[in-house]
Amino acid sequence: MSADLVPDELVAWVRQATTVTVLTGAGMSAESGIATFRDAQTGLWERYDPMQIASVDAWLSDPSLVYGWYVWRVAVAHAAAPNAGHLALADWARRTRVRIVTQNVDDLHERAGNSDVVHLHGELMALRCSDEWCGAPYDQPLPIVSEPTERVTPPPCSVCGAPVRPGVVWFGEMLPEGAMDTAADLVLGSDLVLVVGTSGIVYPAAMLPDLARGHGVPVVEINPEATDLSDRVDLCWRTTAARGLPLLVGSDAPAP
Ligand code: OAD
Repeated sequence: MSADLVPDELVAWVRQATTVTVLTGAGMSAESGIATFRDAQTGLWERYDPMQIASVDAWLSDPSLVYGWYVWRVAVAHAAAPNAGHLALADWARRTRVRIVTQNVDDLHERAGNSDVVHLHGELMALRCSDEWCGAPYDQPLPIVSEPTERVTPPPCSVCGAPVRPGVVWFGEMLPEGAMDTAADLVLGSDLVLVVGTSGIVYPAAMLPDLARGHGVPVVEINPEATDLSDRVDLCWRTTAARGLPLLVGSDAPAP
């Protein structure tokens, strides 16, 4: 199956679908220059396991290290631009009901023009107080740094003085209230589900493709590599987000 040719079966599903849900993961933003979650161990962060840094335990034992890591991730996300895959989904949403459910904490789908986006794992730019009783939003923007710094002291909450934290979901935390229910409703109300750029190993997000298939909604994986989900979808298309999605959306374009 060619990376540059939309599989016939997928073209047929795309043309029939009036409502589509696209589940995206870190691979969606890879061609925008944002390393995937499991590839983020470069440079200064080589010594650290991202799975450990993005955790409640890491925050409690070393908040400055965790904050420093997110300050750098914000800088990387800020410097990145939506890629051809993000732009194709936004284009598609202008003529079809396309909803995005993302595990990504960047805002590239929104910057591409998609307004219907559920962030299962929170949002990088949304800071809030780390005290669970206070939780006040922090409205100062994060500084955009040009170089990574290993440790950055989190600023104090302007209401209670507790350290401010990024509004993302860490290992050991629940998803934002209602996010999974909303995502499940979107998937169940779709004619087609696309799964783009996720390794499918983090739950509960990885349950969504199974939920769709269990209800007879076709599920297609778009990923250059095989994943834990590959055996549990209707079709795998081995291509990348920025290569495949423009072709896929083009296959649904009205005739000139
Ligand atoms: P991963 O880093 O686990 O997986 C990225 C996936 O993207 C892999 O399957 C790659 O093959 C694929 N990929 C790479 N480049 C691609 C491209 N150009 N186009 C399409 N696919 C590409 O990222 P996620 O599955 O998103 O959670 O990780 C899920 C969650 O695990 C993250 O949201 C994060 C992490 O722990 C939390 O922080 C709670």
